[in-house]
Amino acid sequence: YLIGIDLGTSATKTIMIDENGAIVASALQQYPMYQPQNGWAEQDPSDWKDAVLKTIKEVVEQAGVEKEEILGIGLSGQMHGLVMLDEKNEPIGKSIIWCDQRTEKQVKEMHEILPLSKWLQITANPPLAAWTAAKILWTRDNEPEKYQVCRHILLPKDYIRQVLTGEFATDVSDASGMQLLDVKNRCWSDEILNALHIDKNLLGTVHESQEITGTVKKEIADICGLSDKTIVVAGASDNASAAIGTGVVNDGEAFTTIGTSAIVYTHLDSYKEIPEGSLHICCCAVPGCWHTMGGPQSAGLSLEWFKNNFCTDYDVEAEEREMDVYSLMNEKIDRVPIGSDKLIFLPFLMGERTPHMDPKYRGAFLGLNAVHKKENLLRAVMEGVSYSLADCNNILKSIGTVVNSMRVCGGGSKSPVWQKIMAALYDCDIKTLKQEEGPAYGACILAGVAAGVFENIQKACEEFVKEDKTIYCNRNDMEKYKKYHKLYDRFYEALKDEFG
Ligand code: XUL
Repeated sequence: YLIGIDLGTSATKTIMIDENGAIVASALQQYPMYQPQNGWAEQDPSDWKDAVLKTIKEVVEQAGVEKEEILGIGLSGQMHGLVMLDEKNEPIGKSIIWCDQRTEKQVKEMHEILPLSKWLQITANPPLAAWTAAKILWTRDNEPEKYQVCRHILLPKDYIRQVLTGEFATDVSDASGMQLLDVKNRCWSDEILNALHIDKNLLGTVHESQEITGTVKKEIADICGLSDKTIVVAGASDNASAAIGTGVVNDGEAFTTIGTSAIVYTHLDSYKEIPEGSLHICCCAVPGCWHTMGGPQSAGLSLEWFKNNFCTDYDVEAEEREMDVYSLMNEKIDRVPIGSDKLIFLPFLMGERTPHMDPKYRGAFLGLNAVHKKENLLRAVMEGVSYSLADCNNILKSIGTVVNSMRVCGGGSKSPVWQKIMAALYDCDIKTLKQEEGPAYGACILAGVAAGVFENIQKACEEFVKEDKTIYCNRNDMEKYKKYHKLYDRFYEALKDEFG
């Protein structure tokens, strides 16, 4: 048996699979995201730790298997977050997480320290406000007392590794999102670390995703019902792990994930430079391969924001009708025509990365009229997020990657309306999968490869990851969306300089 953990933004999901790839147990634990200021986002590493230990214990109990039969654990998680540990390996305060946008000044400095061409050549990406390096510089500038006592810098899932095994390590895919990695050569970049005056000793060792980084410590094994022989594999970023979980492991294959953020991801067999860094490039979890990714930061986040603030009556209605609130929302959105009766939502509640790279931009509803209902706004949110995804797909087209078939994963992509919108806007088939666990499933496969249960990543994907439904692009819908997409672009341009 193998365990896969996905340390998400809204919750940690832990699953267990058997050697035939079947899911035998799963558990979920939610936690809050703190927003002390507009554009800031933090989480408490102790919430992550509690959620991981509790969900591991739960899946072990649910499965009812002997602890010696659980061979390995794979880790995947939200990218870019900054976890700092003191000399006792305790987290120093909360973690600044991926969607935080406070580092505008530090990004400007990064541009002054090294030319853009250098950043692109080494880290494969331009300096980005959401990535870890800028957060390290922000902390050093603004909270020097914390930085002084910092002995280790880790990404969120690598903090969990430290808790489970005592080791300080990361994997190439997640490390790519720190902006400290030489992405082409898959190792820390001394040149970048020296330029930013960041001590390499603060960082863990870098591994390929399927490498073993240690075994579970005795005291943790006892808490969770595991054996201290269980291996912990390097694992991958949530997006690189979702690629394995969706079987996107060959050149040109692609998937879209819609969770708190949304990402259009394509696999690359060889390293590629993307002009201006308009899409992110990272190492992927398949050894010697890379991937592109881009998409709106506030995808599910926008929908959740709208639902939590303005749709509390939906919870009541869903309960009365004994249905899931998201199915109810879907039903309501489906009744609104394409274009939401000429209402456009710009989904930039927490600034934007690809394609606009503007941490200061904020969200907007445009075109509101007196006959719009709440459902119009809800549909506009879904459409706005989709225009942003389509923009990223268009960048892919412009660099010669035409996606004909897009697999999907993540909570948002379970929505049939969203699937239809994506098919029309991407102008390609959307494929759902039989098992929908994305990152956690990918993490299980990585653990299985490391434990010798599976021969390699591609073979395991071929055997276990199966397509389910196909949603075809409707040409009529496509023409209608084109008109509103243009309006979205014009509104975006018009407001570009208004958010200082
Ligand atoms: C990717 C990104 C998000 C996080 C959270 O660059 O920031 O997808 O990994 O899921």
